[in-house]
Amino acid sequence: MPARIALGLVGAGRMGTTHAHLLARAVPEVRLVAIADVDVVRARVLAEELDVPAVFDDHRDLVGAPGVDAVLVAASTSRHLEVIRDAAAAGRDILCEKPLALTIAETDAAAAAAERAGVRLQVGFMRRWDADYRRARARVAAGEIGRPFLFKSLQFDAELPPLAFCDPAVSGGILVDMGIHEFDLARWLTGDEVVEVHAYGGVLAHPELAPLGDVETAVVNLRFTGGALGSVELTRSAAYAEDVRTEVVGELGSAFVGLLPLTAGALAVPGRIAVDATPLDVSRFAAALVAQARAFARAILDDRPVEVGGAESRAALAIGLAAHRSMHEGRPVAVTEVTGADETEASAG
Ligand SMILES: NC(=O)c1ccc[n+]([C@@H]2O[C@H](COP(=O)([O-])OP(=O)(O)OC[C@H]3O[C@@H](n4cnc5c(N)ncnc54)[C@H](O)[C@@H]3O)[C@@H](O)[C@H]2O)c1
Repeated sequence: MPARIALGLVGAGRMGTTHAHLLARAVPEVRLVAIADVDVVRARVLAEELDVPAVFDDHRDLVGAPGVDAVLVAASTSRHLEVIRDAAAAGRDILCEKPLALTIAETDAAAAAAERAGVRLQVGFMRRWDADYRRARARVAAGEIGRPFLFKSLQFDAELPPLAFCDPAVSGGILVDMGIHEFDLARWLTGDEVVEVHAYGGVLAHPELAPLGDVETAVVNLRFTGGALGSVELTRSAAYAEDVRTEVVGELGSAFVGLLPLTAGALAVPGRIAVDATPLDVSRFAAALVAQARAFARAILDDRPVEVGGAESRAALAIGLAAHRSMHEGRPVAVTEVTGADETEASAG
């Protein structure tokens, strides 16, 4: 295996563009060799900017192109499965943006396609590569805050994405698209599983979202296997900034990861609050996206499995789907209701 992998990017929208710039600037293990987008002008503009030699308007041409080792999927979520299937069939390792797909059945199909083809499939839960979240998890796992009993996390985006993106049929809607990061953190940071959710949503700041059947603000209460409780708050538009904060409260203290300067990463235990944060001049999550891509490339170069795979996407998606159902039906929903229903659909189809 060479010292660098040749990577093709599928999807040159907001996230694909961010990835491409970071890959070019900060990921020595990767050479970006091709970009595909159904909007080929987008692909071409990005390729010219970054000196990427090949451009396609169809992902099938990219995954089949000779010399491509692996594929980064940053296409719209509703298109992930077909790209994953084609990339796997072509024998390419895959790093796919979250979530892998919009249903449990499609997530299982994506994981099965990768497994059948014997290729790696890593999901882009970039928070897992963020230095502050990693430290928090290590400290929780080491028992520094005792047994976690309360999880709380919020994600406020600064700007409403384009309406076409907000459409639940394209992105999954707020509870799947944004919520999935928090639901993954809920599992990963506590080491516990969410069994039930109760969600509320509102169109409170952006009435233009209402015709899409989604909301721009939501809160979700969580109940974990062992009885621990949690809450997640989401909004697609906070006037002041992008803001992400998470706290795990345990019997002995609390692990906190935050974005705002007044709330750096901290560990609070009786008599002591230890600030433990990445310097704030590091652009939030850019370093995590770089670490994520480097880990993916290193897994290929060192011939190891990837760390965050299909099972993680499935588990977090199930919580998001249960929350979506809870919000629409106005009742608490057990996570097994969603996985059970989807499995029935999958076996019927
Ligand atoms: N990790 C994060 O924090 C984060 C943030 C934003 C978006 N995302 C994820 O990134 C993905 C893309 O989101 P975005 O915000 O960039 O959306 P976007 O709409 O800006 O871009 C999607 C791009 O994919 C292209 N596309 C659609 N189908 C395609 C196909 N079959 N082949 C090639 N190109 C195709 C579209 O033309 C568009 O240019 C989504 O899965 C989303 O969930 C992740």
